[in-house]
Amino acid sequence: MLPEAGSPTAMLYKSRCGQCHAPYNPRSMTAAMWEIQVNAMQDRIRRAGLPPLDGADRKAILDYLTRNAGAE
Ligand code: HEC
Repeated sequence: MLPEAGSPTAMLYKSRCGQCHAPYNPRSMTAAMWEIQVNAMQDRIRRAGLPPLDGADRKAILDYLTRNAGAE
């Protein structure tokens, strides 16, 4: 079960980051790792021909991942 399940942000995360693989649990990585992963995934999304995350969606998703991130 994802943190904040059912919230608009968790749903946004699931729809944008669960298209190619099951959405990873935010707790599985640290905040610093999430920043790297989201940037890497933007590249994947673009190369797959999917609409890239706009600034607001990227920020909402990264904020969601970092506030629920795991410890070191
Ligand atoms: C266009 C398809 C696609 C979308 C959309 C996508 N991913 Fe991925 N993701 C992949 C592929 C392919 C891999 C495995 C290869 C790799 O690591 O690059 C992967 C791997 C990962 C991994 C594991 C990397 C590792 O080092 O173990 C994480 C974490 C991840 N994705 C997070 C995300 C997040 C967060 C989003 C939303 C911003 C997202 N993904 C959206 C295709 C996608």
